[in-house]
This record gives sequence, C-alpha cells and structure tokens, in this order.
Amino acid sequence: MAVKYPIKVSLTHSSKLPSVDFSNLPFGKVISDHMFIVDYIGGEWVDPRIEPFGPMQMSPANLALHYGQSIFEGMKATKRNGEPVLFRADMHARRLNVSAERMCMPTLPEDLFLQGLKMLVDLDRAWIPEMEDHALYIRPLMYATDEYFGVHASENYRFIIFTGPVGPYYPKPVKLWVEEVFTRAAQGGVGEAKCAGNYGASLLPAQRAKSAGYDQVMWMDAVEKKYVQEVGTMNLFFVMDNRVITPTTTGTILRGVTRDSFITLLKEWGYTVEDRLLSIAEISDAYWRGTLQECFGAGTAAVVSHVSDITWRDRKMELPPVDEAHRPVATRLKNHINRLRMGLETDQFHWLNSCANSGVLEFVKEEEKAQLLGV
Ligand SMILES: Cc1ncc(COP(=O)(O)O)c(C=O)c1O
Repeated sequence: MAVKYPIKVSLTHSSKLPSVDFSNLPFGKVISDHMFIVDYIGGEWVDPRIEPFGPMQMSPANLALHYGQSIFEGMKATKRNGEPVLFRADMHARRLNVSAERMCMPTLPEDLFLQGLKMLVDLDRAWIPEMEDHALYIRPLMYATDEYFGVHASENYRFIIFTGPVGPYYPKPVKLWVEEVFTRAAQGGVGEAKCAGNYGASLLPAQRAKSAGYDQVMWMDAVEKKYVQEVGTMNLFFVMDNRVITPTTTGTILRGVTRDSFITLLKEWGYTVEDRLLSIAEISDAYWRGTLQECFGAGTAAVVSHVSDITWRDRKMELPPVDEAHRPVATRLKNHINRLRMGLETDQFHWLNSCANSGVLEFVKEEEKAQLLGV
C-alpha cells in the first residue's frame, strides 16, 4: 500500500500477548500492545505515531472532562486467509467526522484515519482471534485537549485508536423494556453523533431496567414516546407479516454500519425492507395477531442480538424461540457477516479492507524489526 503520512512507530518491549487467554475474552477488558495517536495543534493534525498502549497524562482542566467534546467509533478486524481485514472502515471514518462536526471538533482526513488504522492492525495482527464470533475490536476516539475551563470549543484535540480481542458480546438473547420515562435523543440533539454523553445518559435507565430483570431498554422517540428508536448500542429490526422493518434514521438514531449492511443484503436477497417510522403500537398489534416473527438488534459488537421478549407497560411479548427455524432472517444475516469477515463468502459489495502490506514495516526502526518478525 502506498503510504502518504509518515507515521513514527515505537514498539513495546514487553508484549502482553503471552498472558492473554484467548478462550476467555471478557468484552472490552483485554487491550492489545499498541495504539495510534495523532494530535490536532494550531489548526493542523501533527505527529502521527504508533506507540505502546499505556496511560497518558491529563490536566484536570482538560475540556473534554468538563464539557464533553469526546467522540468515538467501534469497529472490528478479523482474518481472511490469514491476513487482517477491516469491515467497512471507510464508513466508520466518515461517521467519526459526522460526529466531529456536530460536536464542533475538527474532522480527520479519512486517508490518515485509514492509514493509521491499517498499520496498527497489521502491527498487532497476532492479537486478532480466529475463533467464530471473535474479532479484534477497534476503538477510535477523539477528545478535546485544551486545558482551561471556560465553556468553549477546544482549539486542540487528540485522536487515538486502540484495539482489543473480543468474544461474543451478547451471548444470550436479550429481554427488552420499552422505556417511556427517559429518552435517549431528541430532534436537533446529538442522537446521530457517537459522542460520549449519549452513553453516559443511557446508563441510569439501563441500570433500572437491569434491576427489573431486563437486559436493555428499547428507546422511544422523545416527543410522543410512540416510535421505536434503537436499543443499547444497536439498531433494531423487526420481521412482521414477512416484511423486514427498521426504524428510520431521522437524526435521533445512530446510522449503524451494520444496519446499512443488513438493508443492502436483505434487498439483494429479495426481502421487502421498510425503512420507516415504526410505532410500538404497530409492533404490539402484530404480536397479538401472531404476525411478529423476529426482532433483533444490529451492531458491530454483536452483529445480531436476538430479542427474546419485549415488555411494554404491563404486557410481555414473548417472541419465537431462538433457533434457525424460527429466526431465519437474523440467523442468515449473522452467519453471512461472520462468514464474510472470515473470507468464506464473496465480498460482493467490497466491504472488506485489507490491512496486509500496510507499510508499517517501513516505519519500524531497523534494530526493532527482528522483534516484530519474531526472529
Ligand atoms: C447507539 C448505537 N446505535 C447503533 C449502533 C450500531 O452501529 P454499528 O452497526 O455501526 O456498530 C451503535 C454502535 O456503534 C450504537 O452505539
């Protein structure tokens, strides 16, 4: 790959890899050896580099801590024929910039994002698990770095990417609570941005739902509490009357990469897909008529999370058992994406981005190359 940006690479001298139990990977707890960093100083992105992962110093006056200029992405790398590949990395780069614009932060050149990402994943390729339902999770993030506390948009920022191997995210089907007290996002707000505050605000409702025996809340629109939005870190899909329906993205819902991929695949496979407003009353009605066939969450972390039941007010809707016979749509989508990532399906839409020949070796110091090549 032709490299455009000079990225300084410093290798770790004490890899954590030998201490990792790949057969037991709690989600989000294991972090790979290196991270990519680039700073935004004086109106420019400067000093892109790959360094050993580790803590960073931060002033208590850091603006991101006070006023929330902090955005992130979540994506995955897997191996296809032994080589690392990313899934729709360009869409994640673009979405990061949509979030940046909404939060009054600088955008990052997409090619810098992709070059840094590919080099990092190539360098830490030994961290990519190869078992089914496992992947290397990738966390790009950007935050304000100004250190004075008047409310203002920071002038300086840092962008980082770090990674960690993960197993299945929601191993069990999820029980959903229809949330009508708290809301996630309103028109004109930041629901479509992947900003830290959205997740902070979701924790209390999620915790209350958990204590009542549910796994996640199903968010409703903020005005009428009538239209289904999304759930946790996933977009929603319903199969009703042999049609697939997903709540439309009108500014309050994150535009999921998995959601977009599912819509494309389903249309390709000949399903009728409706991307529109969907009320909880319509879902309930379908359920009581016996035509609610499937409900599932779609997101990078889980790919598909089957929903086992939905509780709306005092009524519980129990969905069909979670097996291929009863959940053909969700099962086909999940299998297809997982197989595609492992190179077992044709990459018809060119969704996979190879990290092979990322050029990272060019930037490793001569005396450290032997360490990287394992000789
Ligand atoms: C709030 C929210 N909705 C939906 C999604 C699913 O998006 P994607 O498929 O891009 O992971 C995520 C995860 O990023 C999320 O955090």
